[in-house]
Amino acid sequence: MLLKDKVAVITGAAGPNGLGFATARAMAEHGARVVVVDLARAEPQRAAAHLGEAHLGVVADVTDKAACQAAAQAVLERYGRIDILVNNAGITQPRKTLDISPEDYDAVLDVNLRGTLYMSQAVLPTMRAQRGGAIVCISSVSAQRGGGILGGPHYSAAKAGVLGLARAMAREYGIEGIRVNSVTPGLIATDINKGLIPDDRMKGILEQIPLNRIGEPNDVAGCVLFLASDLAKYVTGVTLDVNGGMLIH
Ligand SMILES: NC(=O)c1ccc[n+]([C@@H]2O[C@H](COP(=O)([O-])OP(=O)(O)OC[C@H]3O[C@@H](n4cnc5c(N)ncnc54)[C@H](O)[C@@H]3O)[C@@H](O)[C@H]2O)c1
Repeated sequence: MLLKDKVAVITGAAGPNGLGFATARAMAEHGARVVVVDLARAEPQRAAAHLGEAHLGVVADVTDKAACQAAAQAVLERYGRIDILVNNAGITQPRKTLDISPEDYDAVLDVNLRGTLYMSQAVLPTMRAQRGGAIVCISSVSAQRGGGILGGPHYSAAKAGVLGLARAMAREYGIEGIRVNSVTPGLIATDINKGLIPDDRMKGILEQIPLNRIGEPNDVAGCVLFLASDLAKYVTGVTLDVNGGMLIH
C-alpha cells in the first residue's frame, strides 16, 4: 500500500483505456482515494464508480480556471485534503507546421499546458497548507524528440512547455515539501492513437524500440505511482522516460 489514505486527483482519467484511468486504478489499489476529473462527455462519475464507492468523479474542463478551482473545492469538501495531482488530460493533432491554425494552436496548448498550470494552481494552496504534496505531469517523448509519432509541432511545444513548467514549480515549491515531476511516455496503446498507425508503419516504429513493443497504460501508471509515492520522496524536478528505450539519451 504505497498511498494509504492519500487523496489523489487525476485529470483526464475517465477513459477506460487511457493512461489516466490506469493510473487511477493503480492508485486506488494502493489505498488512495481517487478523484477522476474529466470533461462531462467522458463521464468521470461513472469512471469513479467503477473504482468503488470511496472514489469521486468531478466534471471539469482543465482549460477553464474557475472549473479547476471548483474541482479542487469539491475534493476538499469530500475529503478535506489533496495529496497528489496527476496532470494527465491532453489532446493531440497530427499536423505539419504550416497547417497549424490559430484554433489548432489554442486547442492543443490550452489543454496540455494551460490545463497543467490551472490544475496545479488549484491544488497548490492546499498542498502548501499541508506542508507537502506530489504533482506528476504527463508530458511526452514528443517533447524530447521534436515530434513523437502522431502529434504535430504544436503538441511537441506544449509537452516541452509542460517539462519547463514542472521543473520551475519543483524549484519554487521544494522548500514547502511539494515535489513536482514529469513522465514522458513513448508510444502507449490508448484511444489517443487507436487505429491511426498502419501495420507497415508500426513495424518501422518497433524497430526503433529496444524493448520491441509499444507500451501499455499500466507501464505508465506504475511510474506515476512511484513518483507520487514516498518511494520517490527525495525526487523532484525529474523527467522519467517510459518509452521502452525509444529515446536513450
Ligand atoms: N498514448 C500515448 O502514446 C501517449 C504518449 C505520450 C503522452 N501521452 C499523454 O498522456 C495523456 C493521456 O493520454 P491517453 O493516451 O490516455 O489519451 P486519452 O485520449 O485516452 O485520454 C485523454 C483524456 O483527457 C481528457 N480531456 C481532454 N480534454 C480535456 C479537458 N479540456 N479537460 C479535462 N479533460 C480533458 C479526455 O476526455 C480523455 O479522458 C495525455 O496528456 C497525452 O498527451 C500519451
